[in-house]
Amino acid sequence: MTRPYVLLSIAVSIDGYIDDTGPERLRLSNAADFDRVDQLRADSDAILIGAQTLRSDNPRLLVDSPDRRAARLAAGKPEYPLKVTVSAGGDLSPKLQFWHHGGDKLVYTTAAGAKRLVERLSNLADVVNLGAGVDFGAVLDDLGVRGVTRLMVEGGTRVHTALLAADLADELQMAVAPILIGTAGAPRFLAHATYPGAPNRRMRLQDVTQVGDVAVLRYFPKKSWSGVATQGRP
Ligand SMILES: NC(=O)c1ccc[n+]([C@@H]2O[C@H](COP(=O)([O-])OP(=O)(O)OC[C@H]3O[C@@H](n4cnc5c(N)ncnc54)[C@H](OP(=O)(O)O)[C@@H]3O)[C@@H](O)[C@H]2O)c1
Repeated sequence: MTRPYVLLSIAVSIDGYIDDTGPERLRLSNAADFDRVDQLRADSDAILIGAQTLRSDNPRLLVDSPDRRAARLAAGKPEYPLKVTVSAGGDLSPKLQFWHHGGDKLVYTTAAGAKRLVERLSNLADVVNLGAGVDFGAVLDDLGVRGVTRLMVEGGTRVHTALLAADLADELQMAVAPILIGTAGAPRFLAHATYPGAPNRRMRLQDVTQVGDVAVLRYFPKKSWSGVATQGRP
């Protein structure tokens, strides 16, 4: 079974936060960087986001550029990438914008979550029951079977943490915005976890790009600087 290539995308403040504690979504990046992210979305077969980000930010998660959507169609792809979310509890309102824009939608959930979501989301999304828990290996296996070869993951903290802790991320693109947040209780990029090889394992820094006042760092988490896979090294 071929799992998709997994690209994590995140914008962080200088002090490592990805949002503040206000009710509105904090926009950390600049217009040019949002355009870069739009290209990443257009290059992906599917985009995944955690249920809590859906509830708190209520994103539409679209490819905004008509030219990029036209290029997808010309290449024989759907106009929009598949939109994917994960929820253990199934507490997702059918009113969220996510369900009402773009192309196909998919929810990975538990047996308990599926009981709530199948009825709530009928005609809005396919609901996949993964049993007792949402295991990201099982999610990637199923996406592979569906023909997804390139998956972009757009947060939040818990989802990125779970994928890195399970060593399932192939690439990380981190946009560092020149702001400080400093608010107690604001979410950080990653939570406490047992990361493979931490703290000695070093990711390969593939490149650094300046996008206006934002620095975009591109890492390959499973590779070291020399290009040798880090897993299993002393
Ligand atoms: N700056 C950025 O680039 C950026 C991007 C995205 C998000 N964010 C921010 O991130 C914050 C949300 O992050 P978050 O950590 O609270 O939530 P999250 O990662 O978006 O979603 C977590 C939810 O995913 C579901 N889930 C199911 N299985 C899981 C598993 N195995 N591992 C992890 N999650 C699983 C659970 O949903 P249920 O609770 O439904 O069971 C869980 O509560 C928001 O403040 C948002 O603005 C920032």
